[in-house]
Amino acid sequence: MQDLNGKVAVVTGGAGGIGRALVERFVAEGLRVVVADVEVGALEATVAELRSGGADVTGVVTDVTSPESVEALADAAYAAYGAVHVLCNNAGVGPPGGLVWETTPNDWRWTFGVNVFGVAHGVQAFVPRMLAAGEEGLVINTSSPDGPIAPMPQASVYAATKCAVTCLTECLAAQLEAEGTCLRAAVFYPSGKGLLDTGLWTSDRNRPAGLARERPRSTPAMTVAALRDQGVPVQPLDELADLVVDGIRDGRFVMVLDPERHAGTLRDRAARFGGLGNPTEVHTLGGGIPEHLDAGGFYVEPTLLAGVAEDATGAQEEIFGPVLVVQAHDGDDDAVRVANHSTYGLSGAVHGSPERARAVARRIRTGTVAVNNGVYLAPDVPFGGYKHSGVGREMGLAGFEEYLEIKAIADGSSDATGTGGAR
Ligand SMILES: NC(=O)c1ccc[n+]([C@@H]2O[C@H](COP(=O)([O-])OP(=O)(O)OC[C@H]3O[C@@H](n4cnc5c(N)ncnc54)[C@H](O)[C@@H]3O)[C@@H](O)[C@H]2O)c1
Repeated sequence: MQDLNGKVAVVTGGAGGIGRALVERFVAEGLRVVVADVEVGALEATVAELRSGGADVTGVVTDVTSPESVEALADAAYAAYGAVHVLCNNAGVGPPGGLVWETTPNDWRWTFGVNVFGVAHGVQAFVPRMLAAGEEGLVINTSSPDGPIAPMPQASVYAATKCAVTCLTECLAAQLEAEGTCLRAAVFYPSGKGLLDTGLWTSDRNRPAGLARERPRSTPAMTVAALRDQGVPVQPLDELADLVVDGIRDGRFVMVLDPERHAGTLRDRAARFGGLGNPTEVHTLGGGIPEHLDAGGFYVEPTLLAGVAEDATGAQEEIFGPVLVVQAHDGDDDAVRVANHSTYGLSGAVHGSPERARAVARRIRTGTVAVNNGVYLAPDVPFGGYKHSGVGREMGLAGFEEYLEIKAIADGSSDATGTGGAR
């Protein structure tokens, strides 16, 4: 959707935090905006401030946990503007985290009610009307990295709701495309270089009395103030709003800052999943963390691990320390297979009778291979890796070429010589 000017957006949870940042950015793009929120005072203040700045906004008190309330929101939006092009199901709450077995049923009812049912109610109330209008449109559901990308263990209930939001949105997007509609869906992952200083940390202010916690927590809740005191940087919310507007224009399904970092986290999770799928008993043959250091610190004595699954992180990645991982093989072919079954390939080493060791070394996919303690570190010998270790070759001709700019000039002039005029 390129031209946003004059279009209509609905933002739930738009009276504060990220929702308000979205509303302000939409207004700046010339959109007319329906701001929906359960917090009456904050909603009135937001709408009054934006209107005083000349914005065309309408406030509708809405409780997204109620399908009737969200239907009434849709009625109000269509009554005010006659169309909706961008629906942001953004309202969300984060209950104080804690041990899963210490959560209470009301924690789950309230959080799922707002974060998941709220999104579903938005889709149910708006999508049929948006489809009937036949205009280009987008449903943006606010998820979080906390859950679908990397669940924070202490935020179990919240993380579970956000997994549901991502999953729901993936299904919705697939259906909207498969049915040949003019609508699309996108999932928005607010995150960034640190803390998002929003009202999420005090979500309890909107918690209905009927869904109050049934017993006190055993651990204190995390607070924004404490995180700030720890020096956690704060992510500006307007950069998130910029991200969403760019995402709308580019037709992005995933709206997230620093997608490569999150993709890396997902790849690591997938690798761990592979390792778990093939559990083996890991034997620590001596070494480990010295007893007198208890569980603290990163110091380990020289350690030998055996029985590590091929896909486990311990077998795939370098362990910085005096740690050796032993993997069994069934002959040279199998040893080569095990060695090459890695996304990395910086360097390797082969020991054995010279002829056999050399034959194996030729088949190992690493940038450098030492045979029987051979040393390869010399200025005229390239050092560097294959696969994910492949960036930054050093030394030798290959290292020198890193600093060269290579250019091809295709010359089609009539006086050029050579095949086809390309010189
Ligand atoms: N703050 C973060 O660290 C963070 C990170 C990732 C995702 N998110 C998500 O971003 C979204 C916005 O949260 P935020 O951080 O801006 O918090 P926020 O508390 O500042 O904003 C949430 C808004 O939702 C409203 N709301 C709460 N319950 C509601 C209900 N039943 N019906 C309608 N409105 C309701 C609140 O009044 C508030 O205005 C949420 O979905 C949240 O889960 C936040």
